[in-house]
Amino acid sequence: MTSSLATVSYIGATILFILSLGGLSNPETARRGNLFGIIGMTVAVLATVLGPRVSSVGISWIVAALVVGGVVGLFAAKKVQMTQMPELVALMHSLVGLAACLVGFASYVDTSTVFPTPAEKAIHEVEIYVGILIGAVTFSGSLIAFGKLSGKIGGKPLLLPARHLLNLAGLLVVIWFGREFLRAHDIQAGMTPLIVMTAIALLFGVHMVMAIGGADMPVVVSMLNSYSGWAAAATGFMLGNDLLIVVGALVGSSGAILSYIMCRAMNRNFISVIAGGFGGGAPAAKAAGAGVAQPQGEVVPVSAHETAELLRDAKNVIIVPGYGMAVAQAQHTVNDITKVLRQKGVTVRFGIHPVAGRMPGHMNVLLAEAKVPYDIVLEMDEINEDFPDTDVAIVIGANDIVNPSAQDDPASPIAGMPVLEVWKARTSIVMKRSMASGYAGVDNPLFYKDNNRMLFGDAKKMLDEVLTVLEA
Ligand code: TAP
Repeated sequence: MTSSLATVSYIGATILFILSLGGLSNPETARRGNLFGIIGMTVAVLATVLGPRVSSVGISWIVAALVVGGVVGLFAAKKVQMTQMPELVALMHSLVGLAACLVGFASYVDTSTVFPTPAEKAIHEVEIYVGILIGAVTFSGSLIAFGKLSGKIGGKPLLLPARHLLNLAGLLVVIWFGREFLRAHDIQAGMTPLIVMTAIALLFGVHMVMAIGGADMPVVVSMLNSYSGWAAAATGFMLGNDLLIVVGALVGSSGAILSYIMCRAMNRNFISVIAGGFGGGAPAAKAAGAGVAQPQGEVVPVSAHETAELLRDAKNVIIVPGYGMAVAQAQHTVNDITKVLRQKGVTVRFGIHPVAGRMPGHMNVLLAEAKVPYDIVLEMDEINEDFPDTDVAIVIGANDIVNPSAQDDPASPIAGMPVLEVWKARTSIVMKRSMASGYAGVDNPLFYKDNNRMLFGDAKKMLDEVLTVLEA
């Protein structure tokens, strides 16, 4: 492939990636967006592999790597459950970080490139240093995020004494070693500062994510997504590949915007989260559970039969889905119940919390898969005021996102996080298997409210029973 054809292909791929991001912003156009992304990536890979910068020997290596990577990816994608998707995404981010580090070290030891001026050499070395720095933070941070999301590492924040000073000291050491790296006369002399910086960056990534409390993990996941984009952009600079720079910047900036939106939705300080609880003002930084008032009282259980009757007698129903709906794969039954109720003249709408489930848009994806009409699926801000005029609010496998202690208890680890105010409905029904807490590990006073009922059991099984009664 000629150089100009490769450039044209890169521009085409870039346009497809932008269209893809645009499509992914709405469930109705998400499928098309995904398709644009797939085509764009295929064009990009072909233009790179067949492009002028890859020799015939290089092609066989690349094809071998593509086959190995493709088989591993195919196997992982087939094996992973929908509920494990966030962990898989975190693991993928770690690979982008690792790739940036490896490309950085390889570019540094590669002596084949001759730089016409010392300034150009210095710029290349800055690219290497910054690229490895971002890559190492992304790599170790994403591995810890993977551990936390998969439950292999506890969700409780690890708050080291003087952690802000540690972060600051790490930053200063990284800057100092950066100067040493640029002043090094040969590769051997430059390797020591590069390795020390990599070790500090790896530790910073671990520290940053370990300091994050359970409920704030969504922000960290989207932030690591953003870091992986910047790591890819840095790799693009090191390799002189324009497409990688553009795509990395697209992922980096869209991830940063998503993190900002998440921070606002969770009422968290953006800077606190990026610096791993820096500032200490974020509620997540408080010891989980310390001083939290535990709810008192009795819960009132209901049967599937009683739930069906409450729903049948209602005029207005709001359904609040959460992670448990994904675990139970209950979305299709939810859609069937919605259809039956609407046929009976009941107004049914859905209230979606921005961090419901375990990944951004998790509930929207499940409801779209089950073909729930988009126009009755509303964001938290659009529906929260309507609970006082609602007869029944039914919570399907959600917990943290409907926890009133976020509003009432300043000592709660989720204090300040906006929640769906289901307890303001005439009756709320919470569907879950036990009294266990949600992801943030916080007890939920909603369960003990006078107007709340608990429907215990697997969400799919219980909803099947509710549907049977409704259809009878
Ligand atoms: P959670 O607070 O985790 O609550 C889910 C509830 O579902 C659990 O209490 C569980 O109770 C119940 N459940 C599990 N399996 C079930 C089943 N088969 N049938 C019925 N119920 C079942 O979920 P949420 O309310 O959706 O809130 C999300 C939480 O995850 C937030 O803390 C959020 O910060 C965090 N998080 C979100 C993301 C993103 S981006 N969305 C990423 C990482 C973390 P039982 O065990 O008693 O059944």
